Amino acid sequence: MKEQKFYVTTPIYYVNDIPHIGHAYTTIAADILARYNRSMGHEVFFLTGTDEHGQKVEKAAAEKNRTPKEHADLMVGNFRQLWGKLNISEHSFIRTTDKEHIKIVQDLMQRLKESGKIVKRSYEGVYCTPCERFWTEKDLVEGNCPDCGRPVETIVEENYFFLMSKYQQKLIDYINSNPDYILPESRRNEVLGFLNNNELGDLCISRPKQRLSWGIPLPFDENYVTYVWFDALVNYYSATQYLAPAVSSLDSWWPASHHLIGKDILTTHAVYWSTMLMALDMPLPKNIFAHGWWTVEGKKMSKSVGNVVDPAAMAVKYGVDAFRYFLFREVTFGLDGDFSEDALVRRINTDLANDLGNLLSRFVTMAEKYFSGVIEMPVGYSSANNEFASVCIEAEAKAHNQDCWRRLQFNQILDSIWDIIRAANNYIAHTEPWKIAKTDPDRLKHVMFDLWCALRSVVLPLSPFMPVAVEKMWQQLGLKDMSAEAYASKGTHAWMPGYTVKVFKGEALFPRIETDKKDAAAKTAEKNKETKKMTEEIKDDLIGIEDFSKVQLKIAKVISAERVEKSDKLIRMTVDAGGERQIVAGIGKAYTPEELVGKKIVIVANLKPAKLMGVESQGMLLAATGSDGIISVLSLDRDVEEGSRVK
Ligand code: MSP
Repeated sequence: MKEQKFYVTTPIYYVNDIPHIGHAYTTIAADILARYNRSMGHEVFFLTGTDEHGQKVEKAAAEKNRTPKEHADLMVGNFRQLWGKLNISEHSFIRTTDKEHIKIVQDLMQRLKESGKIVKRSYEGVYCTPCERFWTEKDLVEGNCPDCGRPVETIVEENYFFLMSKYQQKLIDYINSNPDYILPESRRNEVLGFLNNNELGDLCISRPKQRLSWGIPLPFDENYVTYVWFDALVNYYSATQYLAPAVSSLDSWWPASHHLIGKDILTTHAVYWSTMLMALDMPLPKNIFAHGWWTVEGKKMSKSVGNVVDPAAMAVKYGVDAFRYFLFREVTFGLDGDFSEDALVRRINTDLANDLGNLLSRFVTMAEKYFSGVIEMPVGYSSANNEFASVCIEAEAKAHNQDCWRRLQFNQILDSIWDIIRAANNYIAHTEPWKIAKTDPDRLKHVMFDLWCALRSVVLPLSPFMPVAVEKMWQQLGLKDMSAEAYASKGTHAWMPGYTVKVFKGEALFPRIETDKKDAAAKTAEKNKETKKMTEEIKDDLIGIEDFSKVQLKIAKVISAERVEKSDKLIRMTVDAGGERQIVAGIGKAYTPEELVGKKIVIVANLKPAKLMGVESQGMLLAATGSDGIISVLSLDRDVEEGSRVK
C-alpha cells in the first residue's frame, strides 16, 4: 500500500491572457515534483487550473463581445493544450466556475460570517480598478497604484471584511516556528519583515454587484459577489473535495505539500490564505514556494515590448525535454533568471549533446561491439574499493537528497546528476575500454558494468525533468520496466541476482544544434578583422590569426614510447594522429616512456621533419615548462578522437 501522500499545486491562471513562459515555469516545476514523488511510490495529487472570475476577465470578455463564461471556456483550452505539449503528467484541472468550487467558497464564507470573522463595514478607500485592489494612501506611489502605476480612485462603499488583522501575531509565530513554511528563505524573511513592521489590516472580501457582477455571489447578501482572491485561494482546498483521486488509505488530501507560486503573489498566499485557514481552523499547507521571474535577454517580458516567450514554440523548436531541462538548470529555483535562445542552445550543446548524449552513445556502441549488447554483473564484481562506483553512489544519493527535494533545489539535484555523467566520461577517457578490450577482457567487463550502473543511476532522478528523453535512454539501457528497475536502483548499486540486460544503440537523444553557420562565419570574420586591427595597432611582434592558422595542431595518441639510446632527455614515440608517425621529444627527465603510452597529447603536425640525435621526428609535442623547471605535457580534459584538429 502506498504510504505517503503528496499534493502539489500551481497558481490558477487568469483566463484573460494566453500562456507564456511564466505559466509554463511553475507548471513544469510542479510536474517535476509530481513525477518524482510518483516514482518514489507516493500517492500524488497534482492540481492546476484557471482563475475565471473578477474584473480582468469580465473586461477581457467584453472587449471580445463574449460573456465572461464563454470567454473563459475558450481560453481554458489554451492552457490545457499547452500542458499536453509540455508533457505535464496526470493532473486535475480546477476552474473557479465549477459548481462544486462555488458551493465550497460559499460554505466557507458562511462559516466565517457565522463565527463573526466576516463583518460588514462602511469603507472609504483608494481602489485600483485594473488590479481590483484597495490600497491605503501610504501604499500609493506618486498617487498611483504601487503595482501597475495607473491612477486610483477613491471609493466609499459598504463591504464585507474578513478580520485578518486578528491573526497577525499568530502568523508571525507560525512562520517563526516552521522554517520551511515559506521558501526560499529570502522570501520568508520578506514576509516576516513585512509582518513585523506593519500593522496588518482587515481584508475586504466582497464587491458590490453594481460594480462587478462576474463573481461568486455572497451566500449571505445577494447584493455582493466574492473578491476574486478569496474565491481563487480556496481552490487549493475545494479541489481536494471533488477533484482529488480517491484513496482508501488517506482520510484527506488537505493540507497541500507545496503551493508553487511566483514572487508577485506571495502576499496573497503567505498572508491572506494563511490567515483565512487559521480563521477556518484548518491546517496550513506545508510549504509555499515563491519562484523568481524570467526576463528575456535582459528585458522585462511584456506584450508591448513584443518579447513574450511562447513555451510551446520553444518546445517545438528545441524539444520539450531540453526546454524543461534548461529552465531548471540555468537558474536556481527561487531566483530571477534571464531567458535567451542562445543560452538554451549552449545548454543543449554542452550538457545534453556533449556530456549526456555522448556518454550514452559511446557506452551502447561499445556494449554492442564487445558484448553484443549484453550487460551482466561480472563474477567477483564489487563496488567496494571501486573509486568510480563510490563517486557515483555518493552523487546518486545527493540527487535523491530529500532535503533538496523538499526545498526544491532543482539545480543542485541536476548538479549531482551531472557529477555522475562527468565522472563517467572521465572514467571512459581514463580506462580506455577500446584498449583493454584487446589486453584485458575481464577488466573490460567490470568497466562496462560500472558504466552501466552509472547510467542507470542517472535515469531515475533525471526522469522527472526530461521524461521523454529519459524513457528512450532507459530503453537503450535495457530497462524496459522502469518501476521494477527504479525499485532495484534506489540509492544503491544494488543488482538483482541473475539479472542481465540487453542494451542497444538507438536514436541520438540530443543532437547538437548547429548554430547558424553563416552567422558564425560572419562573426568569426568580423572578429578576425578586429584582432588583426588590434594587433597591428598595438604591437608589431604579434602574429595575425592567419599566421597562427598555418600551424596544424592535432590530437595524437601515444601508441608506444622508448628512450633514445644514450640520451636521458629524449623519448621516441609512435603516435596516432589520424595516421601513425614518429616523434621525438625532450621530456625524458619528466616522464617515463610507460606513463606516456595511451596518453592523448597535442602535436604540431605540419612541422618539417627534423633529426634529434640521429632520430627523425615528424612533428613536435606540446608541453609547458614552469618557472621551477617542471615540464607538463598538454593533454585533454575530455576525450576526443585522435587526429582531431586543435584550434
Ligand atoms: N490568478 C492569479 C493566481 C491565483 S492563485 C490562487 C494569478 N494568475 S496569473 O495568470 O497572472 O499568474 C501567473 C503566474 O505566472 C504567477 O505565479 C506569476 O508569478 C507567474 N509569472 C508571470 N510572469 C512571469 C515571469 N516573467 N516569470 C516567471 N513567472 C511569471 O496571478
